[in-house]
Amino acid sequence: MNDMMLHAPTCCVGDDFVIRAYMCGDESLLSESVTISYDHLKQFMPWAKHTQTIGESQSVIAKAMANYSRTEDFMLGIFSPDETTQWGGTGFHLREGPLETRSAEIGLWIRAEFAHQGMGTRVLSAMLNWGFTAWPWERLTWRCDADNIASARVAEKCGMQLEGRLRGHRRKEDGSRVDTLCYAALRS
Ligand SMILES: CC(C)(COP(=O)(O)OP(=O)(O)OC[C@H]1O[C@@H](n2cnc3c(N)ncnc32)[C@H](O)[C@@H]1OP(=O)(O)O)[C@@H](O)C(=O)NCCC(=O)NCCS
Repeated sequence: MNDMMLHAPTCCVGDDFVIRAYMCGDESLLSESVTISYDHLKQFMPWAKHTQTIGESQSVIAKAMANYSRTEDFMLGIFSPDETTQWGGTGFHLREGPLETRSAEIGLWIRAEFAHQGMGTRVLSAMLNWGFTAWPWERLTWRCDADNIASARVAEKCGMQLEGRLRGHRRKEDGSRVDTLCYAALRS
């Protein structure tokens, strides 16, 4: 066991939002936020469904909590300061290798009504700051479809560097293929 397994942080309080690990009882907030945001999410988030029920959200949260406690994946919710509304989701995901690599990919979605108002940039910036201070990450990455203009722009605004373009990397639902842009920031 390494020190990170013992000390995975669970909460980051921003100026106008709270990022924290999911807890039992969050399922109605998650269900409402994802369902209301479906039209906004569906193009780039393959997991988005027209309606995500409370039961489905409960399963998502149970899995997220189990992964978090096993230090296998760190899925986080973004909440209003009073934590009565979910404003989106984010997380540190171990997609480049196990914990020992000290590298994680940041994922992010913003509730539809708050999109394109600067929140994605503020949350990604907070995740990078938090990730390089309270967490032991040495490399944080960000991947998006090349036609996801807002996502690429957010990474650039937060100072992440474009490292490459994976051509035809993702197959979309309509069968077409889209390039993936790979960004990263280093602790150093
Ligand atoms: C991508 C996402 C996280 C960005 O968050 P956001 O709060 O909308 O982003 P911000 O408002 O902070 O910044 C968006 C930037 O993209 C720009 N932008 C958005 N759509 C654009 C478009 N179609 N063309 C050009 N620029 C665009 C905005 O102008 C802004 O840049 P600016 O501040 O220089 O003007 C959010 O829109 C979202 O949840 N999208 C759906 C899920 C998703 O795609 N997640 C990312 C997966 S990698």
